[in-house]
Amino acid sequence: MQRLAIQGGNRLNGEVRISGAKNAALPILCAGLLTDDALQLGNVPEMNDVATMCKLLQQMGVKIEVNGGQIALSAAHVDKFEAPYDMVKTMRAAILVLGPLVARFGEARVSLPGGCAIGSRPVDLHIKGLQAMGAEIHIEHGYIHAQAKRLKGARIFFDLISVTGTENLMMAATLADGVTVLENAAREPEVVDLAHCLIAMGARIEGAGSDTITITGVGRLHGASHRIMPDRIESGTFLVAAAATGGSITLTDTRADILDNVLEKLQEAGATIQVAGGTISLQMNKRPRAVNVRTAPYPAFPTDMQAQFMAMNTIAEGSAMVVETIFENRFMHVQELRRLGAQIDVEGNTAVIKGCAQLEGAAIMATDLRASACLVIAGLVAQGETIVDRIYHLDRGYEHIEAKLSALGAQIRRIK
Ligand code: UD1
Repeated sequence: MQRLAIQGGNRLNGEVRISGAKNAALPILCAGLLTDDALQLGNVPEMNDVATMCKLLQQMGVKIEVNGGQIALSAAHVDKFEAPYDMVKTMRAAILVLGPLVARFGEARVSLPGGCAIGSRPVDLHIKGLQAMGAEIHIEHGYIHAQAKRLKGARIFFDLISVTGTENLMMAATLADGVTVLENAAREPEVVDLAHCLIAMGARIEGAGSDTITITGVGRLHGASHRIMPDRIESGTFLVAAAATGGSITLTDTRADILDNVLEKLQEAGATIQVAGGTISLQMNKRPRAVNVRTAPYPAFPTDMQAQFMAMNTIAEGSAMVVETIFENRFMHVQELRRLGAQIDVEGNTAVIKGCAQLEGAAIMATDLRASACLVIAGLVAQGETIVDRIYHLDRGYEHIEAKLSALGAQIRRIK
């Protein structure tokens, strides 16, 4: 198992290019199933979740050509409509093939995702939505088996805001007969990016980015080219790392307009932020101030940035409260941060962090993707060496993270 060895204490300085967004690339790759023409994608990040999704699509018969960040897909000859358990258990986003498969081929067999380190994460809303559109669904031997001659447009109200649920049903609705209205839909920028790609493929979608999305089904979709949007969570992660180390960095190829809440919190912590075109610069000349954070669906503070802010709060001046409202068990990083000397109390979905002057390096273990990023940030500020174990979580969703951090002056190396 690979580990990262980090020698803490260096400030991050310099420029870093932000990669394409993982959470946009994964649904957009699945959108390739909706047409028998070629879909050309640019700015696709190189990371394990993208590789896993490509492998899954290839197993179904999709032809995929990868050339750096360019991926060309052709789903002209799909002959297997299945996402097996071994794929879904490593990457829950594999559930995103469900909607496209039923919509285009009238059939899908997708493993139910099991539990997950950060919570139970059911997919009942995906299933209910497809049923409302006329799909017959049976759960057999741990698999969702869905069938429909042709899906029918429907009005679907989400009890809970679900990002991949919205994406799955939006994709399914593009080929349904009639109009589908998704209410209380997720407003995340990645939903909007997927809608842009689908519209380029000939889909009729209105309202993506608001809580009501209207999709008028069409008979077929065609090929298109689409460039994946920048990763707002990778952007936020580098900004927090720079702020925590008292550094000065510039992100390029990113977007500030989708990071409002995160940038505001960083300013509250004492950082100076400048935005120009696709760049964001951050300078932090002092010890950060502790900042309260409450996660909620977009445009509120993202749950995928909660752990990174927790890392910064551990060494901040003052105390902060972090409230997690999306996932019930997303504080796995707390135990590990405590091993570095952090002072954190947890009560239910609330963590209270008392900033300390210095963390001390130790051996720690990553438990999920964003928790891994939090531990890396903690390692960057801790005194001495921190070894982060189980970094396969990190490799799922960050492109070349240690190369990017090294280029910014961090002392970080991979131990194989
Ligand atoms: C997506 C993101 C993930 C992010 C999360 C919340 C991708 C690939 N992943 O995950 O990085 O942390 O949004 O912003 O885009 N829920 C149900 N029933 C359902 C679906 C969801 O109860 O059918 C619950 C979940 O357990 C969770 C909440 O709704 O408590 C939100 O989950 P959801 O938005 O669906 O997360 P994902 O789409 O899996």
